[in-house]
Amino acid sequence: MDFQLTDEQQMIQAAARDFARDEIAPIAHEFDASGEFPLETIQRMGELGLMGIEVPESYGGSGLDTIGYTLAMMEVSAADAAHGTIMSVNNSLFCNGILKHGTEDQKQKYVRAIATGDEIGAYALTEPASGSDAANMKSRAVLSDDGSHYVINARKSWITSGPVARYLVLFAMTDPEAGARGVSAFIIDAEKEGFHRGKLEPKLGIRASATCEIELTDYKCPVEDRLGDEGQGFKIAMGVLDAGRIGIAAQAVGIAQAAYEASVEYAKERKAFGQEIGTFQMIQAKLADMKTRLEAARLLTLKAAWAKMKAMETGSRFTLDGSMAKLFASEAAMWITHQAVQIHGGMGYSKEMPVERYFRDAKITEIYEGTSEIQRMVIARTETGLR
Ligand code: CAA
Ligand code: FAD
Repeated sequence: MDFQLTDEQQMIQAAARDFARDEIAPIAHEFDASGEFPLETIQRMGELGLMGIEVPESYGGSGLDTIGYTLAMMEVSAADAAHGTIMSVNNSLFCNGILKHGTEDQKQKYVRAIATGDEIGAYALTEPASGSDAANMKSRAVLSDDGSHYVINARKSWITSGPVARYLVLFAMTDPEAGARGVSAFIIDAEKEGFHRGKLEPKLGIRASATCEIELTDYKCPVEDRLGDEGQGFKIAMGVLDAGRIGIAAQAVGIAQAAYEASVEYAKERKAFGQEIGTFQMIQAKLADMKTRLEAARLLTLKAAWAKMKAMETGSRFTLDGSMAKLFASEAAMWITHQAVQIHGGMGYSKEMPVERYFRDAKITEIYEGTSEIQRMVIARTETGLR
């Protein structure tokens, strides 16, 4: 057992921290208030290699490992969780799946564009009537008579980066009778006919991350843009989410870290009853519990990243580690940001301090990429075999 980071891991952590502190943190409040998509910083993140951290250099990425990705996600999300969301979709949900299941052409064409940040990627699984029950989708893909393309009719909800994405990995039924085994995955080009974006979703938090509904009407997807085999789509979707959930756990750790640091600073400055509030035992107890949960969340997240790296060598699954990390880190972030607002008193409720944003941003980590209830279900099923 060795908790020492490698030189490469420390390098990406430091690079992400410097960039996040110098270029993201100063604009986070403004973009949260306006809800505008932060295109300029996202493009800069692409130039720095933050949009395809685990993607091999031969496909335009940084060629680093999952721990490096996880550390960078923590740093970016500590400055602004919305940037973290956009980064995680490009890295985990878009590039990972194509790297694992894609053809050489798909990797060259699509992974390169997204890993370099030249284009934005998205992942479209959820539908208006199926979120947690993802296999119960209504979207359909029908193979043309000449076998050259699929005709896809789909309606997908809550698509992160939907308003700006060029390419999406989208899931639709090719065999509706077969349930989860009838789902297939496709790579969609937003510039093709039949692709429509819905209105922007107004959100509680991660407001600079743009979200909308996506509709495909008689969209023609060439067979060579199907990802993996017909009927393998649900397993691809779940495998991608196993990795994605580690990124969301890291996002939660980043938000919680920022809330903890702001609280320590405030506790040392703010005075009540003639002394710094940080000298009151009740405030110290909050800080101690915040720090302990933060470190537990960080460890579980890094352990999951390590488990994914081991699993890549052996071909085994790391579902349990990813779900436990996401469940614990997201609930820790919600609790820690709640305490942070309390420590700041009235100022914790003010838009003039960042803690109210951390509190709003933390909530999404308990919902997307599988709610806490779904993580508990996955953990219990995987660990006990019970259904
Ligand atoms: N890896 C590989 N295969 C998997 C798998 C995994 N992690 N999990 C399940 N499978 C396979 C199963 O082995 C099974 O295969 P067989 O048919 O060969 O037996 C098949 O998939 C079906 O599995 P289940 O019977 O367990 O499926 P289910 O219908 O009961 O659903 C679920 C399982 C865990 C609840 C799943 O539906 C789920 O994860 N729901 C949550 C959806 C979700 O997380 N959505 C996130 C959307 S993306 C997003 O949110 C992005 C963002 O915000 C930025
Ligand atoms: P529902 O499934 O309707 O769940 C409602 C409640 O019931 C929840 O509390 C849930 O935990 C509970 N519940 C459901 N089933 C069970 C059960 N079996 N046992 C116990 N409790 C249960 N999706 C994408 O595909 N791509 C994206 O990029 C994306 N980005 C998102 C961004 C944002 C900001 C948001 C809010 C969502 C995003 N999503 C995305 C969708 C997200 O993954 C879903 O919202 C989430 O999986 C929950 O689905 P739902 O909203 O339909 O809730």
